[in-house]
Amino acid sequence: MIRKCLFPVGGYGTRFLPATKALPKEMLPIVNKPLVQYGVEESIESGLYEIGFVTGRGKRAIADHFDISYELEHQISGSDKEKYLTSIRHVMHEGVFSFTRQKEMKGLGHAILAGETLIGTEPFGVVLADDLCIPEADGDNVMAQMVKVFKQFRCSIVAVMEVPEDEIHKYGVIEGEEMKDGLYRVKSMVEKPKKEDAPSNLAVIGRYILTPDIFDILRDTPPGKNDEIQLTDALMTQAQDGVVMAYRFKGTRFDCGSVEGFVEATNFCFEELYKKGNLT
Ligand code: G1P
Repeated sequence: MIRKCLFPVGGYGTRFLPATKALPKEMLPIVNKPLVQYGVEESIESGLYEIGFVTGRGKRAIADHFDISYELEHQISGSDKEKYLTSIRHVMHEGVFSFTRQKEMKGLGHAILAGETLIGTEPFGVVLADDLCIPEADGDNVMAQMVKVFKQFRCSIVAVMEVPEDEIHKYGVIEGEEMKDGLYRVKSMVEKPKKEDAPSNLAVIGRYILTPDIFDILRDTPPGKNDEIQLTDALMTQAQDGVVMAYRFKGTRFDCGSVEGFVEATNFCFEELYKKGNLT
């Protein structure tokens, strides 16, 4: 079964400067919780409790966040402030965390390949923490939905959503054959196409389940769009053998890689979760 999930967190977070000058962008809070913790909680809830981070320089706060702070525990234990530690204590109890460093930033595919040492030879999840996904009320989270699809097809799975034409250039885009409602066999994929070249309006968002042959494929994948090694190109190689499925997930996704999306996510989480006492 799938137990591992990779979090590429090496990126610079340029769009959030100056906030991200000394702080990893993944540690920016949506209300009271760092962005990356939402993704880690989603992963652990889906049964993917071995969390591997592909980090870079200036990202130590992420490792500290998922480690015990003895001073804090000492200060807060037994006080009425202890409730504020509930969610992070739970995550630390349920999860196992490993780290490796990506030496250069050469694209998402390069980051995934750097994570091979944490994954080995089993299928694994990938969460791009920038994409915050909130499930429907009483519904499974997005990674849990994907695990169900994986159990059925045993091949790589990408999460997709419909996006407006003028936003399609920001995403990997699939061309697929719909097998049943919301489930497509991917025929081809293209990274960040111009709108006139996009094969559909179905954009890949930051949730993947990958089979481990992706590492050998990535090793042989030349730099593509923006001169970076693209995961989309490696997935395209798998898709040629018919072993990539796209799944239109249920839930709401926020693009927290952009300031607008980040603020929208903050407002949503404040109104829908925090005020109702559902954000610990
Ligand atoms: C990455 C992927 C892209 C995908 C997107 C989802 O792009 O390369 O295929 O659609 O994540 O968020 P990035 O946003 O890192 O440029």
